[in-house]
Amino acid sequence: MTANHAAEGTLGVGILGAGPVTQAIHLPSLARLGDLLTVRHIMDVDAAVAGSVAARVGATYSTSIEALLGDPEVDVVAICSPHQFHAEQVIAACRAGKKAVLCEKPFAWNADEAAQISAVSRETGVPIIVGAMHTFDPGWLAAVANWGELPETAHTIRSSIVLPPNARFEDFATEIITRPAAGTPDYSDAEVIMAMLRGGIMGLAIHDLPLVRRFTPDFAEVEVLEARIVRPFGYVISLRTPTRTIELRAAMNNTWKPEWSFEAFSDDAALRIDFTPSYVQAGSATATFSRAGETTVHGPFAHNGYEGEWREVAALATGTKQPPSAQTLIDDLTFALDIAEATVACRYADQNLQQAAREGAHA
Ligand SMILES: NC(=O)c1ccc[n+]([C@@H]2O[C@H](COP(=O)([O-])OP(=O)(O)OC[C@H]3O[C@@H](n4cnc5c(N)ncnc54)[C@H](O)[C@@H]3O)[C@@H](O)[C@H]2O)c1
Repeated sequence: MTANHAAEGTLGVGILGAGPVTQAIHLPSLARLGDLLTVRHIMDVDAAVAGSVAARVGATYSTSIEALLGDPEVDVVAICSPHQFHAEQVIAACRAGKKAVLCEKPFAWNADEAAQISAVSRETGVPIIVGAMHTFDPGWLAAVANWGELPETAHTIRSSIVLPPNARFEDFATEIITRPAAGTPDYSDAEVIMAMLRGGIMGLAIHDLPLVRRFTPDFAEVEVLEARIVRPFGYVISLRTPTRTIELRAAMNNTWKPEWSFEAFSDDAALRIDFTPSYVQAGSATATFSRAGETTVHGPFAHNGYEGEWREVAALATGTKQPPSAQTLIDDLTFALDIAEATVACRYADQNLQQAAREGAHA
């Protein structure tokens, strides 16, 4: 345990899970926000990780959630553990009466968990936000402020992600303590393909699905037309609703030029948002509107969504801002879960068709 020389009058932060995302994303963001927030307590089930990450920031450490939630120095809690622990940890943090909770995406893994979180949030009044960082990016917020009718009139929506693997960014940002070795997937195994598709949606596409949903009023009727994986990791997924065509693309490869964009088109207007790559802390997204031959660019601004989400946590914890409705978080999660399920079903249906065609050819 280490003494903390934190600034007085700031909100104390406790972090559950001290892996690469805590080390390479949240601690650098928090280091820039010392006038608002101070890291007080780091918890990880691996004591060596908890201890060494806590020592970097002069915080207390522990290996139990109870110790962190019972620490009176902890006002707000960030949940950065693996996804299967998110729901129970969000609920425990709300029940501990903390002032706000930031949960890494996805905040739950199924609709039941989402409903439980919603009930606890309503009962305790603790504000919760999900670390879908693009929704806190000033470039996105500038798009929201200037998009006029576009969410109602858009007919075509695209989310496109071309990135190197996360580890490369993490290593640029900091020296990561403990990381398991990655293996090569067996692409001939149908279950591996399904897991890649599901993981791609719930782990990567999920960042921008809340954005897609803002442009899809009939999101409950989403249908998957085609779904393919991209090697070594990625996906190409075509979706539609009765009024929208949606394309989700991602490729994680050895690209020299990362790109992360979101686009929406109507008959007479287009919006393109270029986000900074994941793990990058400098600058913000840029939003470009094209209307009747005129182009308007908003941004880049001084910070992006990683800092934006922590500013939001501070505003929620001090009551200077209203939290998003629990229904918004649930709708975003349900949209992602529905797409993941429909994608896997679509891929199985394709596979069965191909199998039937092969059997027919040999009959
Ligand atoms: N916002 C982003 O850009 C972004 C990028 C990648 C990942 N993520 C999300 O961030 C989260 C963490 O990602 P990561 O890559 O650091 O994960 P990770 O699995 O590599 O590390 C998580 C850490 O949590 C610890 N842990 C395991 N079980 C725990 C428990 N029950 N309680 C507390 N700690 C526990 C592990 O020991 C490890 O140190 C995930 O939910 C992931 O989806 C966000």
